[in-house]
Amino acid sequence: MKARTTSLFFLLFCIPLLPNLTAPQILFQGFNWESWKEEGGWYKSLSQSIPQQLASSGITHVWLPPPSHSVSPQGYMPGRLYDLNASRYGNQDELKALINTFHDNGIQSIADIVINHRCAEKKDERGIWCIFEGGTPDDRLDWGPSLICSDDTAYSNGKGNPDTGADFSAAPDIDHINTRVQRELSDWMNWLKTEIGFNGWRFDFVKGYAPEFTKLFVTNTRPSFSVGELWNSLAYGSDGKLEYNQDAHRRALVGWVEGAGGDVTAFDFTTKGILQAAVQGELWRMKDSNGGAPGMIGLSPGKSVTFVDNHDTGSTQNMWPFPSDKVMQGYAYILTHPGIPSIFYDHFFDWGLKEEITKLVAIRLRNGIGPDSALRILASDADLYVAATDEKIIAKIGPRYDVGNLVPPTYQIATSGNDYCVWEKKAGALLE
Ligand SMILES: *[C@@H]1O[C@H](CO)[C@@H](O)[C@H](O)[C@H]1NC(C)=O
Repeated sequence: MKARTTSLFFLLFCIPLLPNLTAPQILFQGFNWESWKEEGGWYKSLSQSIPQQLASSGITHVWLPPPSHSVSPQGYMPGRLYDLNASRYGNQDELKALINTFHDNGIQSIADIVINHRCAEKKDERGIWCIFEGGTPDDRLDWGPSLICSDDTAYSNGKGNPDTGADFSAAPDIDHINTRVQRELSDWMNWLKTEIGFNGWRFDFVKGYAPEFTKLFVTNTRPSFSVGELWNSLAYGSDGKLEYNQDAHRRALVGWVEGAGGDVTAFDFTTKGILQAAVQGELWRMKDSNGGAPGMIGLSPGKSVTFVDNHDTGSTQNMWPFPSDKVMQGYAYILTHPGIPSIFYDHFFDWGLKEEITKLVAIRLRNGIGPDSALRILASDADLYVAATDEKIIAKIGPRYDVGNLVPPTYQIATSGNDYCVWEKKAGALLE
């Protein structure tokens, strides 16, 4: 009796005062490697019905491609950062209109921030965009050799500090230690927020500069959400097979988040790499030696953005694709597990998986599964993986049909598909 009174008191008076720890966050990657080719422009084509469709599927954030002028059509070789009219995806007004429509539908927009490197106005004899001549319309970003890393391989005249991260060989690497660079990039990002309407950031190639600079840009620009792309190779044995233990890999992601100030998240490349190997008859990989999830979500789920594929790993680049016939098992895992799940445009729209994915999102949302939900792994054999999340839902992936007595009779099937199934507690079972 006493316990019941206490919990009733807690429910009525305390819960409204607590921060909402499980605020739903479902990220959507709103482009692929070919989107710039869209007839009439990508922004305009998305504007038509995509914001409404995403909102009704429970998506809260959309990641858009790099918005600025770029010497490559996809946007990852940016030059004139303030020039959003020379983008192959559309012009500045179309982008603002698209972001407004997302906002009207309750969806936040994430800008792809490419600030490891920056291209100059002219190519040299090698074809590298590295001849800075000044002459921008105003003083903003009118950079020369003193703002380029002294050890840059693309730009022999760099007079700045040595690079604080990996070299990007195709374009000049920016000297982030320089306070003018820090100030002008922060100003540009704040302009993307106030003038264009972006709410948050996806930091491209963060391997290229020290995490303290991400921290600085986050502090200076206060995004509502941000995520970094730290893409390291997983550990492979001498036989070329993925190793079971990927601890060092996920610890590097967690370490980057800490170095970047802790307010930022990272794409969980560890989970992607292990999961795409595991669904090929090696589901024993999905439990680490401590009994937890083997990816970044097993260490720091609230800071992990899980994904199945993106514009690099999948799409037409296809650098490190998830097995295409098992993509739904990937979504069944990430959408029932801790972490911040993200959904790739191609799978949702081009592959016709919108309905199946939306059902998984709905199960996640109505059961209040969030980034920090508790995971309990019930089985991880070669052909069967079963896990309970928050003791509210149970997910199974793998070809084995019979889950034995792992799923209690108080649960019923919420959705199922090829080699996956999700159960949730029956109505009324919550009271038992
Ligand atoms: C891009 O176009 C918009 C709308 O016409 C204009 O306000 C803005 O100044 C243009 N930007 C540049 C860099 O030309």
